[in-house]
Amino acid sequence: MNVLVTGNLPESIISTIRAEHRVEVNPKDEPIPRDQLLSAVADKHGILSMLTDRVDDALLDQAPHLKIVANCAVGYDNIDMAAATQRRIAVTNTPGVLTDSTADVVFALMLAVGRRVVEGDQRVRQGHFKHFAPFHFLGQDISGKTLGIVGMGRIGQAVAKRAAGFNMPIIYTSRTRLPAEKEAAMGARYENFETVLGESDFLSLNVPLTPQTHHLVGADQLRLMKPTAILINTARGPVIDEIALVQALREQWIGGAGLDVYENEPFLAPGLIACKNAVVLPHVGSATIETRTRMAELATQNLLVGLRGGTPPNCLNSEIFT
Ligand code: NAP
Ligand code: GLV
Ligand code: GLV
Repeated sequence: MNVLVTGNLPESIISTIRAEHRVEVNPKDEPIPRDQLLSAVADKHGILSMLTDRVDDALLDQAPHLKIVANCAVGYDNIDMAAATQRRIAVTNTPGVLTDSTADVVFALMLAVGRRVVEGDQRVRQGHFKHFAPFHFLGQDISGKTLGIVGMGRIGQAVAKRAAGFNMPIIYTSRTRLPAEKEAAMGARYENFETVLGESDFLSLNVPLTPQTHHLVGADQLRLMKPTAILINTARGPVIDEIALVQALREQWIGGAGLDVYENEPFLAPGLIACKNAVVLPHVGSATIETRTRMAELATQNLLVGLRGGTPPNCLNSEIFT
């Protein structure tokens, strides 16, 4: 069968697909332009997709032979699930293998913003480190501060686990409340969203992007946060109203932000770059050699099982097989 791999994955992984199928790989470290993607899918039975590929009705209309879209990401907001399911096309993601790496980046951002790591690095490189001064370049403690988690799934729980080592009281809100034993084990208290916003010193967003979470944090929510609070987003950009965030950072409604994702990636809202109280990363939550390799392997496994006619391990619409 014919397979399209839309991202530049290592040959060691491509070769396992090539052992069973004809493979076309995007050799560039940039997304396939939309028009080229639409023509590339015409003869394909499987696509190993990246989160930058929009898989919608228009694309699926061009792909009459398609059996499976194996997304190389846990998030699948780039895929129109209803459009795929209606055509009985399987969709898979890569849950679990990236949980720890992404939770690590949540902490990297918390520490970077709270302790002004990036500003400090720039100061030294620019030759401005002249002497130690007792009340110079102060940040705020992470240890002992209240951590709020919005979306207590795999990554949210891995963030909570790390927070225990920092002696952080944890409050959280999520679509589904965790069982009492689990809450007790991780020392997390369930609260409504407004309380989490109002009480958190650090607030980590760990929800998927859905119609319900789009602009979950806008001006009204930012106004409820502490003026010292630090907002961390490794989920998806549109979960925050980025224009409102820029105003909040400029006018110090909140203390700072650590961002890995943006509303209109790879572009940033006007004024965001100028906010010194923000640390901005280029969507690298899962970007370690170990994790990206595991994600590519898992996506490949899903793809190969799907093309053999089986139910892939991480199928998001297994109803198509019944
Ligand atoms: P997950 O295990 O599905 O966790 C998501 C959690 O959010 C679940 O507990 C879910 O509730 C909850 N939730 C869903 N809708 C909600 C709503 N409207 N209000 C409140 N809570 C809601 O997913 P995960 O593996 O932790 O990944 C989370 C997201 O992180 C992904 O979808 C992806 O967008 C993002 N991500 C980003 C990076 C990066 O590179 N920056 C890396 C990995 C993942 P239920 O328990 O009821 O389902
Ligand atoms: C990355 O953002 C993912 O969803 O895996
Ligand atoms: C700081 O470097 C200290 O010794 O307290």
